Amino acid sequence: MNLLIGIAGGTGSGKSTIAKRIVETMGEARAVLIEQDAYYRDRSHLAPKERERVNYDHPSAFDAPLLIAHLRELKSGRTIPRLSYEYGMHIRVETGAVIPPRSVIVLEGIMALHDPDLRALMDRKVFVDAAPDVRFIRRLKRDLIERGDTVESVIERYLTFVRPMHSAFVEPSRQYADLVVSGEEPLQSSVDQILSNIAGRR
Ligand SMILES: Nc1ncnc2c1ncn2[C@@H]1O[C@H](COP(=O)(O)OP(=O)(O)OP(=O)(O)O)[C@@H](O)[C@H]1O
Ligand SMILES: [Mg+2]
Repeated sequence: MNLLIGIAGGTGSGKSTIAKRIVETMGEARAVLIEQDAYYRDRSHLAPKERERVNYDHPSAFDAPLLIAHLRELKSGRTIPRLSYEYGMHIRVETGAVIPPRSVIVLEGIMALHDPDLRALMDRKVFVDAAPDVRFIRRLKRDLIERGDTVESVIERYLTFVRPMHSAFVEPSRQYADLVVSGEEPLQSSVDQILSNIAGRR
């Protein structure tokens, strides 16, 4: 018997932080983390300039069939290859490592609750809520520090892609959530709400 928990929410809401803490709390013998970002479609066939023009905030930027196939494998008790996505190059690589099946599978990503076929696999659906200004500030800091972007390029991408796609696809997926947690309150409080929700279900 295993449990798939989907965690969605806007960029900078705190999904990755919450999902990691859940897996750490349960322990790697019981829980495993799947990042939807690792399932971005590979763009190695496109010229570098064209790769920059892709809308990475649209649902079609992700390889949903592959993610669904992998989750089915894990749910059936089989190991899957660990994928990794390189943001700068927009390429997806197999790391050579594997992800073992575990009784709790935590999937996190902006579009985790968008796809009906993906939702159908989930036992619990969580949406992480945080105000847009807080999310933008977090995103700006991350892209400047971790991805070496400029303030102008982060703002441009936010206004062109991130913000409209959030309104069109991410925010509407909140309606499918069984549980909405705060991404602004202390981390442990939101993690505890999710953990007690899971415990109640079993
Ligand atoms: N509850 C919280 N309180 C304060 N800061 C937080 C909280 N949760 C996350 N953060 C911080 O906010 C930033 C963004 O969090 P995180 O990377 O988890 O967001 P995300 O939802 O995964 O965003 P993205 O979709 O862009 O990957 C991080 O710097 C993280 O440390
Ligand atoms: Mg994240």
